[in-house]
Order: sequence, then C-alpha cells, then structure tokens
Amino acid sequence: MIIAVDGPTASGKGTIAKALAAHFGLPHLDTGLLYRAVARQVLLNLGDPDSEADALAACAFPDSLLADPELRSEEVGGFASQVSVHPAVRQALYQRQRAFALQAGGAVLDGRDIGTVIAPEAEAKLFVIASVPARAERRFHEMQEAGRPVTLADIAADMELRDLRDATRSAAPLVQAEDAVVLDTSLLSPGEAIARAIAFVELKAGK
Ligand code: C5P
Repeated sequence: MIIAVDGPTASGKGTIAKALAAHFGLPHLDTGLLYRAVARQVLLNLGDPDSEADALAACAFPDSLLADPELRSEEVGGFASQVSVHPAVRQALYQRQRAFALQAGGAVLDGRDIGTVIAPEAEAKLFVIASVPARAERRFHEMQEAGRPVTLADIAADMELRDLRDATRSAAPLVQAEDAVVLDTSLLSPGEAIARAIAFVELKAGK
C-alpha cells in the first residue's frame, strides 16, 4: 500500500509519516530532504538557488549529503523552497521518488506533492495542516534544542513566506489532493495525531 502524507513545513507530517511507516512496517521517504540536499549542494557549489541551471546541476548531489545535519537548518529549508520552484529540478527528482513509491510491498512518502504528482494512485492520502503559530512554536523548540539561535517572530515570518512560495509556484504547488483527508494537528499532541493517522490508514486498508 502507498501512503502519501503531504502538508506544509512543521505541520507534523514527518512525525506522522515516520510513525505510520513503523506501525505498518513500510519503508519511508522524507522527500523534503531531497530538495534540501539540492539546496545545500547549490550552496556548496557557490551557485544561485534562483538559477534553474545551478539548481539542476546540484541534483547530482552525492547520497552521503543526505546525512548532513545542516540539511535540517531553517536556512537550508528556505533555499530548498527556492530550488523546488524550478520544473527541471522537480523533474530530476521525480524518478527517484516514483521508484520508491512503487517498490513491492508499498511505502510511505511525505512531502508536498506526493498525493497529487508522485503517487496519485496512493491508497491513503493525508493532508496534514496546523496553524502558523502552532507550527512556528514547534519549529522554535526544535531549533532551541539544536542550539540554533533564532527568534519565534523570524520563524513565523519565514514560514509564511515559504508557505506562500510553496502554494503559489506553478510546478506542483502545495495543494490538497481531491481524495486526501485533512488532519489538523494544531491542537493535537504527536501521539493523538499519530493515532488518528493510523486509524485512517487502517480504514482505507480495510476497504
Ligand atoms: O518538508 P521540508 O520542509 O523538509 O521541505 C523543504 C522544501 O522542499 C519545502 O519548503 C518545499 O518547497 C520543498 N518540497 C517540495 N516538494 C516536496 C517536498 C519538499 O517542493 N515533495
């Protein structure tokens, strides 16, 4: 079974996708990490994330880059949202994601366009959302724990900018698939959100 988990940054989709993969014994791909790796590679190449040619060249990043802790930073996340605008970049990363989705036995993928572009045939599609204040608060705590100096106001402002860019780009914008179910995690603990996601997938799997 293919499970698609889409939604904006810090909505809880990564935590939910990881928990679904563990619960159902499926492999998991965090597709945001691929875009983050492209962004990081552009920076390492001293390129410009807004240049489609520079971003496309960075799609040949080495797999070892996926383990770089710097990929999780807010800075790289912002650049990832810039490189992900380019259709050539999305095209270059498509096959890798598609092959992961189609592996025997199924898979869980989380991102922005899994239910709409990468695996429109996914049996279970979740669109995970949360309010900007709830998401900014979560990201702020993560950054504090990681010892990264950021303010809550800066995170909320970056988040709104990134949401707007992700939702308004012409290539594969962040939109809810018609057959996706919305899970709003604003007022839920991680455990509650995961329990609801598992119940939804079980319902879908039973059909
Ligand atoms: O999910 P995460 O915050 O790691 O994603 C970083 C950026 O990568 C997002 O802001 C988005 O612009 C881009 N992305 C995308 N499509 C995906 C996953 C991530 O465009 N499937």
